Amino acid sequence: MDGEDQTRSGADLVVAGAGLIGLSCALEAARSGLEVVVVDAGAGERASEVAAGMIAPVGEASWGEEALLGAALDSAARWPGFAERLEEETGEPVGYRRCGALHVGLDRDETAELRRMHDLHGELGLESEWLTAGACRKLEPGLGTDAAGGYVAAGEAEVDPRRVLAVLRIACRRAGAAIREGVVAGVRDDGSGRVAGIELADGSRIDSERVLLATGVRLGELAAAGTAPIRPVKGEVVRLRARPGEEPCERIIASERVYVVPRANGEVVVGATVEDRGFDTRVTAGGVHELLREAYRAVPEIAELELTGFAAGLRPTTPDNAPVIGRAGPEGLLVAGGHHRNGVLLAPFTAAAIGAMLQDEPVPEAVAALAPGRFAASGVAS
Ligand code: GLY
Repeated sequence: MDGEDQTRSGADLVVAGAGLIGLSCALEAARSGLEVVVVDAGAGERASEVAAGMIAPVGEASWGEEALLGAALDSAARWPGFAERLEEETGEPVGYRRCGALHVGLDRDETAELRRMHDLHGELGLESEWLTAGACRKLEPGLGTDAAGGYVAAGEAEVDPRRVLAVLRIACRRAGAAIREGVVAGVRDDGSGRVAGIELADGSRIDSERVLLATGVRLGELAAAGTAPIRPVKGEVVRLRARPGEEPCERIIASERVYVVPRANGEVVVGATVEDRGFDTRVTAGGVHELLREAYRAVPEIAELELTGFAAGLRPTTPDNAPVIGRAGPEGLLVAGGHHRNGVLLAPFTAAAIGAMLQDEPVPEAVAALAPGRFAASGVAS
């Protein structure tokens, strides 16, 4: 499925980064007729390889994050069409499923906190229904006895991020984009404030008047100072497999410390730790223990499932948890990154925003609110 295209030396647009964000933007640009080269540094630190794939603007909503919420709601609404078009263009499924999510409290404190979240949903006009413990169990009979009430967000969805990555690569190539291996070492300018292309770590160059940096946790190293203050936030996940008929739940089940994401193909992802440990991608016994313990409290039947793997990824995270999307540095340089817990959710929104910028179209307010300049203006350095 993946040949390499090593010979190109010029393009209308170079995209640095072949994660969900880079590939989604590259596809958008290639569909519009631009000649696109994607530079792929490999799967090593790619958050989308580890992501559980929740498309969950309600479950991820929080106080004081209105700009992020606007983007999240916009993007969640785009997901069905985004998935359908990808599947049409490639003939490959991406596993999008509007399964809904049930958030449960496993003790009084957790339930009280969930109630506050549910009240916030009401203030924000989000789709969220409060349920008693009995009603939660009626919806999801596999819930453990600790579940003391919670809310259901019926519109939440999930998708298999690793399938999406594979299908995006096919779609990009079909749309004419080239994908080549390499590590971007720097952005070149022409000496008069315009981008001239990129330089790779092996010394080769790709000429281009437009460059999009979508290098996840490494974005801050390439973008202009202060525009992408991104730190890695580690997340460990455990992968399980249910035999047909033994699925532990129908919906995403989440508690304060854990979520359980069931896929249509029987895979069940349990995630995720949230750890500020720099560029550490080790899976720890403590992390796996906590995930399995809390998942077992929420849905005891997970103990019966086959354990198929575990992984740790790095969420690229900005000081306000919202991504940076827009122009940064010399004319022609764009960045898209810092999606923190919402990279999968925000991929269609980000691709549409970057697509509009590449066409020099005016950007809507929801996109302007995520401009990289907001950090430079506040004095936060990368
Ligand atoms: N999207 C959930 C997480 O980052 O763990």
